[in-house]
Amino acid sequence: MKQKVVLAYSGGLDTSVAVHWLTKVKGYDVIALSLDVGQADTDFEAIKERALQAGAVDVVIEDAKEEMTGEYVLPSLMSNALYEGKYPLVSALSRPLIVAHLIKTAKEFSASAVAHGCTGKGNDQVRFEVGALALDPYIDVIAPVREWNMTREDSIKYAQENELPVTATKDRIYSIDENLWGRAIECGILEDPWAEPPSEVFSYTAIDGSESVKEVVIGFEQGVPKSINGKEMTLVDLINELNVLAGGCGFGRIDMVESRRVGIKSREVYECPAALALTMAHQDLEAMTLERDVLHEKLRLEPRFADLVYDGLWFSPLREALSAFMSSTQKYVTGEVRMRFGPGPIGKVIGRRSDVGLYDYNLATYDEADSFNHEDAKGFVRIFGLGIATWAKRQTAAKGK
Ligand code: ARG
Repeated sequence: MKQKVVLAYSGGLDTSVAVHWLTKVKGYDVIALSLDVGQADTDFEAIKERALQAGAVDVVIEDAKEEMTGEYVLPSLMSNALYEGKYPLVSALSRPLIVAHLIKTAKEFSASAVAHGCTGKGNDQVRFEVGALALDPYIDVIAPVREWNMTREDSIKYAQENELPVTATKDRIYSIDENLWGRAIECGILEDPWAEPPSEVFSYTAIDGSESVKEVVIGFEQGVPKSINGKEMTLVDLINELNVLAGGCGFGRIDMVESRRVGIKSREVYECPAALALTMAHQDLEAMTLERDVLHEKLRLEPRFADLVYDGLWFSPLREALSAFMSSTQKYVTGEVRMRFGPGPIGKVIGRRSDVGLYDYNLATYDEADSFNHEDAKGFVRIFGLGIATWAKRQTAAKGK
């Protein structure tokens, strides 16, 4: 009997060629797995047909949008995770989810291997393979694109020669990865970091024409976004709605040079309207609701969380421990944040309120309502500065005066 492999199948050129190659060259029965993670305009029936035509013995399609938001996006949002201070980990968050489904499907089909369509130059191969090792250290992982050594032209030729039903042509220049947390665009002219991204690369933030400005109130409960303008909705719907709302004004683009795990600096363009808006709102609400020491410690750990996820270590003891810490801080991150988007790329928080917030008007005000004890401040400041005063007297030019 032939060995089975479960391939993460997107329906694109590389993974279609991979189905054929794994079958003909490697002698596997290929099970193609496609997940709905909220990528726009995807026809899963067509994807299924393409996989079968390329030679897959079975195709598994699953709606993973809720799992994506609940299990991956939310813990990342609670950590305000932005890799290198900018990138909300769009692709890095979907990879562990895909890995979990690959391993689950491999068990269901008694497959001995899983496979992915990543090249040897990117982060995604690391995320797939380290993730697979974490969930099943005994499974084989195959990376056809890394093994077969074909250029993009070669794979197009391979597809044509073997009558594989792919739609890619030579002028499909961009490599795009998307889910509801955002869209990553690479290749083509974008590989010149000096060149401005042409407007054709954008879709989530395609500006709707006018000088559009929108105001929204985002409601959070214990760190979880729950409502927009008072209307409660699921996290999937809320993210989709914000993508349209903030993205429609032109908010959410990121253009950066990024440090890949494999040592390459790459120029990356992203569109992440909802991810950036929710991160800004969540950070703002935390500033109001988290006690100072907790807030400062959290701010220190957030970049560590982002690095781990970026590096493919979602399934790792440190990521889990950090998530446990992050979750424990969210108990009182409840309240509302007002934001304004547009015109164009502008997006900002313009107000916030919380019944459990630590902002106390009577303590903060300079008006008559002031309840702060100014007398107490005098002794506090003297003692706080005592060490500095001693240093100045003994060890600076003020010495001996
Ligand atoms: N550089 C980004 C990351 O590592 C985006 C990767 C996009 N993947 C792709 N196959 N186009 O997360």
